[in-house]
Amino acid sequence: MRKQRFTFQYIILAAALLLTSACSTPQPAEKTLKEAFDGKFLMGCAINVDQSSGRDVVADSLIVRHFNSIVAENCMKCEKIHPLENEYFWDDADQFVQFGEKNNMVIIGHCLLWHSQCAPWFFHDEKGNLVSADVLKQRIRDHITTIVTRYKGRVRGWDVVNEAIMDDGTYRDSYFYQILGEEFIPFAFECAHAADPDAELYLNDYSMAKPGKREAYVKLIGQLQEKGLHIDAIGIQAHAGMDYPDMNDMEQTIQAYIGTGIDVMFTELDINALPNVFENGNENAAVEERFEYEQRMNPYVNGMPADSLQVWNSRVQGMFDLALKYHEHFRRVCMWGLCDQQSWLNDWPMPGRTNYPLLFDRNYRLKPVMQKYTMTAH
Ligand code: XIL
Repeated sequence: MRKQRFTFQYIILAAALLLTSACSTPQPAEKTLKEAFDGKFLMGCAINVDQSSGRDVVADSLIVRHFNSIVAENCMKCEKIHPLENEYFWDDADQFVQFGEKNNMVIIGHCLLWHSQCAPWFFHDEKGNLVSADVLKQRIRDHITTIVTRYKGRVRGWDVVNEAIMDDGTYRDSYFYQILGEEFIPFAFECAHAADPDAELYLNDYSMAKPGKREAYVKLIGQLQEKGLHIDAIGIQAHAGMDYPDMNDMEQTIQAYIGTGIDVMFTELDINALPNVFENGNENAAVEERFEYEQRMNPYVNGMPADSLQVWNSRVQGMFDLALKYHEHFRRVCMWGLCDQQSWLNDWPMPGRTNYPLLFDRNYRLKPVMQKYTMTAH
């Protein structure tokens, strides 16, 4: 009887000791995002003017804490920075660059040539007719030279040409293409390199996992290289959804781009959590395509259900795992915005939806899914 009590006391003591030691074992400290991917790739965030101006204090503290690179969500696009032929608007872009410098961040310029959000004057003369090839070249040269020169040595890299190729691999029928043909792309790279020979220069586009687009870009990169033009990396925008892109297709794209000898990046990563508005389940990020609001397309007003959240989590991890797998050739993973309520995907392609595409929730909390990277060595 006495022996039994003795053993029992020992068990209690041992259990108590175990419990104390478990409680006092230091838990691994949670890393910030930029710490979690340090040495692998830069962790970027697209920021808006409220953030670069310091008006969005809560967002700013998170951006500074978690990211080591920023890109301008809108303020460097042609319609904003160069609204009239003889008028540049620098205030917002200057503030964006100052924000990055103040916080020791790698600053990325987006974007020099893009068919969308381009100022209307760019392609027309005073009578409203399309300008000649020579005039357009002169305008492109002035635009690129003026902007790149202003931020020379301060902006690390530029999206020189954004979204020039269609999903089937043909050239987009933009005014740039209509007036200059394929030549507008090498010409833009030439102008950007002349303005800042040390700047990194990139192509950038969406739907990159699609074979037609992938092949067209591999060919285009080869043509730029053959001409001896400077190109450092290609940006895979990575506007993804719950069932696109297919991760094997995405991996093939990454491999194909790496095979050309340049680096890759996810430049505008977000995962659309809502039903796909495009009829054929299309992966799309064409900002000019828009739909009327429909209630059935906005199912998660009060939060995502657990099964959808699980799918969403695995999609995010799928993208980060790919970046980690190819980290030697991955320069940057950049989120297209900080937190869910600020994402463009609440209003595109359908206005007024409640979306959950980013890494920080509506309460500015980092989503638990990222603990796979912030809590472990990988
Ligand atoms: C989006 C911005 O996030 C929105 O605020 C704006 O109204 C439209 O453009 N591809 C790009 C980005 O290259 O510039 C776009 O950004 C999203 C799709």
